[in-house]
Amino acid sequence: MRITLKVWRQKNAATPGRMVDYRLDDVSEDMSFLEMLDVLNESLIAAGEEPVAFDHDCREGICGMCGVMIDGVAHGPEMTTTCQLHMRSFSDGDTITVEPWRADPFPVIKDLVVNRGAFDRIIAAGGYISANTGAAPDAHAMPVPKADADRAFEAAACISCGACVAACPNGSAMLFTAAKVTHLGSLPQGQPERDDRVVNMLHQHDVEGFGGCTNIGECTAVCPVGIPLDTISQLNFDLRHALGRGH
Ligand code: SF4
Ligand code: FES
Repeated sequence: MRITLKVWRQKNAATPGRMVDYRLDDVSEDMSFLEMLDVLNESLIAAGEEPVAFDHDCREGICGMCGVMIDGVAHGPEMTTTCQLHMRSFSDGDTITVEPWRADPFPVIKDLVVNRGAFDRIIAAGGYISANTGAAPDAHAMPVPKADADRAFEAAACISCGACVAACPNGSAMLFTAAKVTHLGSLPQGQPERDDRVVNMLHQHDVEGFGGCTNIGECTAVCPVGIPLDTISQLNFDLRHALGRGH
């Protein structure tokens, strides 16, 4: 395939960025999107130019590091991570635009790499339990109703990629925060901090500069693991409950 790339290049946070065009003439449809960027970078390095900086780690859809906007959509045309997106989703002759996540709380570090430390600080504000769980117990040792276990497992699938923020017109991280609150709040081990957790995590969410949720739903439309919008309803339920108890 012949592909034209329009890639956001930005030396660092203090320098203005710009789109730069690159042409690739031998892209296999079996390449992942990141492998295609690897090929671009090999050619840039061979030409003595600076390679395009982009984040990645597992390349298995697990770590959530590889987020970029592709043709204006978080992670591109498939509901998956960028590392799991393949070039067969594009056509010979396509022009593809690649940009970093767009959100003030995710400042650009370089090219396509953004600083998602804001997510770490939201987690630090409440994404933990204090219960001593001891050694790994048998799965059935602590009775958890099936519906609660399913709810927790669904929310725990969040890989903290940030696509929900990048897609949201409000730059809200409510889906991410709701996934963490719902994951721990659905389980017995998460109950001691349940009220403090939702209050403190949402406070940090706002401190970081993320916007509020107005039920637009762009977040779930791009979430690679399918965290549902009603997870935010659970967060709001927990918040009302916590505030009603004087938190
Ligand atoms: S809720 Fe979905 S889109 Fe948002 S950070 Fe988690 S996995 Fe990524
Ligand atoms: S590199 Fe880990 S999810 Fe893509």
